[in-house]
Amino acid sequence: FASGSAPPVIWLQGAVCTGCSISLLNSAAPAIDDILLNTISLKYHPNLMTAAGELAVTTLTGAAEAGAGEFILCVEGGIPTSIDGRYSIIGERDGEPWTMLDAVMELGCKAKYVVAVGTCASFGGVVKPSEYTGVRRLAEVLQGSTKNPVINLPACPVNPIVLVGTLVRLLTSGVPPLDAWSRPTEYYGTSVHHICPRLTTPMVQQIGVFGCYEHVGCKGPHTSFTCPNLKWNNGVNWCIDKTNSLCIGCSSPNFPSTPFYGK
Ligand code: SF4
Ligand code: F3S
Repeated sequence: FASGSAPPVIWLQGAVCTGCSISLLNSAAPAIDDILLNTISLKYHPNLMTAAGELAVTTLTGAAEAGAGEFILCVEGGIPTSIDGRYSIIGERDGEPWTMLDAVMELGCKAKYVVAVGTCASFGGVVKPSEYTGVRRLAEVLQGSTKNPVINLPACPVNPIVLVGTLVRLLTSGVPPLDAWSRPTEYYGTSVHHICPRLTTPMVQQIGVFGCYEHVGCKGPHTSFTCPNLKWNNGVNWCIDKTNSLCIGCSSPNFPSTPFYGK
């Protein structure tokens, strides 16, 4: 990965579908190769690195020690806490399982910045309802032990523009203004509804046709995110426009506890 002088980033995965990592790879401006080669020094990423086993664990701990106080810790997914965190094991240290829970607690207080990537890390998301694994959100696990507030970047998956934009913001000017849920107000300061181009169109009674979906359960009025402005797929479309579906509230703290369709 990028030159040694680039700011170190360590990316950990707990209970995940890996969708947020895929979303990172979809970054278009800047493209992912530009990010990895010229912007950050990604020291550890379970999917993107070639190292495995002992080498991977050694690289991870070495990167944290070498960059102590300066690295950015990105956490994707919820953090299982049941049975001492053994539902999510990163590797072994001293012949013992090294869990995601251990790693987050150890590295979280050393990092300069900590970023919860996606809704599962931010709020528990789709993995939280499991009573067996005892998934907790990142800020709950770290409980104020970090140098700076944990920055939540919810959405399922994270929007690559929001992720890369926040990383660049951290590297250039530090922690951005945050809302009550510790989300950057630049991206989460308005509701989807407020800036939706369907706001003044006729209410319709079914999705798939042009119009406003408020009467068929659109969560846009209760969801803070800037999807209509940023869009997805390199600015091509988003959930409502050019897709003709509704907002299911994927960046909300209670996602997915409400039905996707209907009230
Ligand atoms: Fe609001 Fe949804 Fe209607 Fe858009 S489609 S105006 S987000 S209720
Ligand atoms: Fe999520 Fe709603 Fe945007 S479902 S991607 S916040 S339009």
